[in-house]
Amino acid sequence: MKFFVDTADVKEIRELNDLGLLDGVTTNPSLILKSGGKIEDVTREICEMVDGPVSAEVTATEYSEMMREARALAKIADNVCIKVPLTLDGLKACRAIRSEGRLVNVTLCFSANQALLAAKAGASFISPFIGRLDDMNIDGMELISEIRTIYDNYDFNTEILAASIRTANHVKQAAMLGADVATVPPATLKALVKHPLTDKGLEAFLADWAKTGQKIG
Ligand code: E4P
Repeated sequence: MKFFVDTADVKEIRELNDLGLLDGVTTNPSLILKSGGKIEDVTREICEMVDGPVSAEVTATEYSEMMREARALAKIADNVCIKVPLTLDGLKACRAIRSEGRLVNVTLCFSANQALLAAKAGASFISPFIGRLDDMNIDGMELISEIRTIYDNYDFNTEILAASIRTANHVKQAAMLGADVATVPPATLKALVKHPLTDKGLEAFLADWAKTGQKIG
């Protein structure tokens, strides 16, 4: 499973990238707002730092304006992945942007039929929003499972990018169901390493090691 980080906070991205944990980054207009920076500047800085795809989202809702924005975002760096919303204009833009040789992430997916359409439009990634479905008492993981079945039935190459991840358990469940990628907020990504028995075991080993009076090397 690939790990993307879901943030536009350059400092957080640098820390996780230095740990060797990142395969890519996803941003959205709300995350750009939170970063306080200009979309072009923030995206450029992230793209220079991270080798993998960096999703930057168009904000137009009409096809030709989407294409104008997509081309402007694509100029920022080779690893910009254009994010388009799951609408009819978004799907049309998806096909056109793919034919220009760019990666496309189709976002705001809440149903298996939407995911089917995105795959048929040639999307590189489909982003089902797990947490937002869970918020409405709908099982977000069931959607991952449905999309996995449909994509496998027809050998679609579109990668399932589990998004709107809120907990470490979401990451585990998405991995068990065969999502190709999870885009995870920085705090949740770091929380994956945590286990109380790891902390307790390490404490005991270090206490015993101190008693040996030895030093390695
Ligand atoms: C995905 O690419 C989105 O940026 C993101 O996962 C949305 O998550 P949220 O529901 O926590 O805002």
